[in-house]
Amino acid sequence: MKKNFLYLILILGTVLFINACYYDKAELLYPTVQGTTCDTAGVVSYSLKVVPLLKAQCYGCHSVTGGSAGINMANYANDKAIALNGKLYGSISHAPGYFAMPQGGNQMSSCDLAIIKKWITSGCLNN
Ligand code: HEC
Repeated sequence: MKKNFLYLILILGTVLFINACYYDKAELLYPTVQGTTCDTAGVVSYSLKVVPLLKAQCYGCHSVTGGSAGINMANYANDKAIALNGKLYGSISHAPGYFAMPQGGNQMSSCDLAIIKKWITSGCLNN
């Protein structure tokens, strides 16, 4: 009886010890193109922040001329046009009524979504 009790304490102690070592942070597990933190403070730069994201995940299929589904991206005027008609954020946020993009790929990280949203809500600057 006493021995069983000792085993119980031992198992409990081990479980608590292992749990104490559990440490994960989304920013460290899934680093974004910005580095390890999601920085949406201040003005979001189209050329420095938005383009690299779209280039990596969209421009391959949606080029300036002849993009999939007639969606031509990859220059400022075209990217701004789909930002303003709601299709850019609708598709990347997988909102109902929009085609979920990138097609056949994983959804952008929440940080990438936040960056694009900030660019759109700040007026789609060409900066
Ligand atoms: C692998 C190729 C591919 C990639 C990568 C891709 N798309 Fe698409 N996209 C398509 C195709 C094909 C369609 C047509 C709809 C369908 O068949 O799903 C489409 C449709 C769309 C539409 C909807 C058109 C409409 O009229 O409603 C938008 C907006 C769009 N894509 C934006 C994006 C954005 C933004 C990205 C990057 C996050 C992206 N796409 C990445 C292939 C792609």
